[in-house]
Amino acid sequence: MTRPLSLVTLSGSLRERSFNSALLRALPEFFPDHVTLTRLEWRGLPVLDVDDEQAHGLPAQVRELQQQIRAADGLIIATPEYNHGVPGGLKNALDWLSRGPMPHGLYGVPTAILGASNGPIGTFRAQAMLRQTLAALNAPTLPQPQVLVGNAQDRFDDSLTLVDAATRKFIAGWAEAVVTWMERFRAPA
Ligand SMILES: Cc1cc2nc3c(=O)[nH]c(=O)nc-3n(C[C@H](O)[C@H](O)[C@H](O)COP(=O)(O)O)c2cc1C
Repeated sequence: MTRPLSLVTLSGSLRERSFNSALLRALPEFFPDHVTLTRLEWRGLPVLDVDDEQAHGLPAQVRELQQQIRAADGLIIATPEYNHGVPGGLKNALDWLSRGPMPHGLYGVPTAILGASNGPIGTFRAQAMLRQTLAALNAPTLPQPQVLVGNAQDRFDDSLTLVDAATRKFIAGWAEAVVTWMERFRAPA
C-alpha cells in the first residue's frame, strides 16, 4: 500500500476572492489519493517585534503553525506578487515561523511554490524572492517546474474555478514533481 503523504498549504493572500487561495483549492484533484492537503491559517499574526517576542515568547498561533508544519511531510506556498516582491504579510509569517528553538518551523522542511497574479509574468519576481528566503531557512524548494500563473483573471471562472486548460495541464505535471520531491525528503518508514 502507498504510504500517505501529508502536505500543508499556505496562501500568501488573505483576500476573499484570492486567485492564490483558489489555486490551492484547485490542487487536490491534481494529486493522487494518498496525498492530503491541509490549509494553514496565518490571518491575525502580529507584525514581528523581537522585543515583544522576547518579553512574551512566541504567540500560540505561531507555535501551532510550526507544529502543523513539522508534523507534515512538506509545505506548499502560493504567493501573490506585491510591488515586485513577496507580500509583506506572507514574509512576516515566514519570519515568525523561523523563530524559536532550532530546528525552527521551516528548517529542513521540503517546500514547493506556485503563484498567480494579474501581471503577465505571474509572480516571477515574488517567487524568486520567496526562494531566496526559503533557502535562508534551509527549506529545500522544488527547483522546477515553476508554476507562474500570469493574467490570472483570464484563467479562473466567476466562481474561481481554475478553468484554463494549459494551466491545468501544467499543474498536473507540477503535482507529480511535488510528490517526488516531498517523498525524497521523507524519513524511511
Ligand atoms: C499592493 C499590491 C501590489 C501589487 N503589485 C503587483 C506586482 O508587482 N506585480 C503583479 O503582477 N501584480 C501586482 N499586484 C496585483 C496582484 O497580482 C493581484 O492583486 C492578485 O490578484 C493578488 O493575488 P490574490 O488574488 O491571491 O490576492 C499588486 C496588488 C497589490 C494589492
